[in-house]
Amino acid sequence: MKIATIVGARPQFVKAAAFSRIAAARPGCEEILIHTGQHYDANMSDVFFRELNIPPPRHHLGVGSGRHGAQTGKMMELIEEILLLEKPQVVLIYGDTNSTLAGALAAAKQHIPVAHVEAGLRSFNRKMPEELNRIVSDAVSDVLFAPTREAVAQLKTEGIRGDKVVWSGDIMYDMALLVREISLRQSSILPDLALKPKGYYVATIHRAENTDDPRRLAAIVKCLERVGREIPVVLPLHPRTRAALVRENLLDALSHAITLSEPLGFVDMVRLELDARAIITDSGGVQKEAFFYRIPCFVLRDETEWVELIEAGWNTLVPPADPAVMARVILDLQNRHPREISPYGDGHAATIIADELIRRFNA
Ligand code: UD1
Repeated sequence: MKIATIVGARPQFVKAAAFSRIAAARPGCEEILIHTGQHYDANMSDVFFRELNIPPPRHHLGVGSGRHGAQTGKMMELIEEILLLEKPQVVLIYGDTNSTLAGALAAAKQHIPVAHVEAGLRSFNRKMPEELNRIVSDAVSDVLFAPTREAVAQLKTEGIRGDKVVWSGDIMYDMALLVREISLRQSSILPDLALKPKGYYVATIHRAENTDDPRRLAAIVKCLERVGREIPVVLPLHPRTRAALVRENLLDALSHAITLSEPLGFVDMVRLELDARAIITDSGGVQKEAFFYRIPCFVLRDETEWVELIEAGWNTLVPPADPAVMARVILDLQNRHPREISPYGDGHAATIIADELIRRFNA
C-alpha cells in the first residue's frame, strides 16, 4: 500500500513524525512524503526533519509564501502532477493549513481516497483561514480521524457518514510523550537563555487574527511587557509575527521587555514548556502541549477548538483587548482548580491510524 502524505507547515512535521515511525515498521506499507514548502526556513522546517528523524520528502514543491489563493493554487497544481505520477492508494493530510486544503482537493479530484488526521475540530469562526481549511478538508475526506469525542460528535452534526469517522485520539500526544524524555536529556535551552525552572513564562504568537490586526497585536505586546515586569517571558518569534512587529514599530520596545528568540526546534520548545511557570499562546498545538505537561496555559484568542481544556479548567481564554486586564489574568495563578481529564487517548493515535489505513486501503 502506497500512502502519499502531504506536509508543509511546522505542526504537520511533528504529526508526520509520529505516523512515519509506525508506518515504516509495517510490512507492505510504503509512505512517501510530499513537502509543499509552505514553511521553508531552516528553523521552521529542516530542524524538525533532523530532530524527529522524519524521512526526507520524496518531493519538495518549494511553493513558499504568498496570498492564500496563490499559495494554495500553486500547491494544488504541483500536488496533482505528483499524484498522477505516484498513484498512491490514499493521501494522508494533517490539520488545517493551506497545505492540508491543497492536498485534500488535489487528491479528491483525482478520486484518490483522502484520510484527514485531526478531523472534526471547529472554532466556529469562519474568519480564520484554518476554519475554512478544516471544513472543506473534512467534507472531501473519505476517512476522518478525530482526536476527541467532541470532534466525532461535530462530524455527525455536519452529516458526515458515521463509517467514515474514526476516533484515534490525538497524534500530538504520541509525540509529546516521546519527545519529553529526549528534551530533558538533550536540550540546553534553559541555561542557554539563563532561565530557572518554573521561573519564567513561555509565549508563542502567530495566528493571522492576532498578527494582522494592529489593535490586537498592540494589546498583546503591551500585555507581554506588563507580564515581563513581573517574571521573565521568552517568546520564540514566528516569521509572520516578526514581520508584523517590525511593520507596527513594536519590535524594539518588546525586545527590551522580554526575551525574544528565533523559532525553536521541537526538542528545545518542549524543554521550555516542561519547566515554564505558565504558557501564553495562540497556537493550537501549544495549547495541548501545555495540558500534556500540566502547565497552566492562557490562550490569546476569542475562542478555541480545544474546548475541553477550557471546560476542565486547564486553559483560560484571554481575548486580546485590554492589556491591563489580560496581564492581570495571566499573572494570577492562584485559585486554579483544574479537573483531571483524558480526552486525547493514550499516546497510540499513530498506531490506530496506521491499522485503519491498512484495513481500508491495503489492496
Ligand atoms: C500556518 C498555518 C497555521 C499553522 C501555522 C504554524 C495556514 C493558513 N496557516 O500559518 O494553521 O498553525 O502555519 O506555523 O496554512 N514565513 C517565513 N519562513 C517560513 C515560513 C513562513 O518567513 O519558513 C513567513 C512568510 O513570510 C509567510 C508568513 O511567515 O508569509 C506566514 O506563513 P504562512 O505559511 O502563510 O502561515 P503561518 O502563519 O505560518
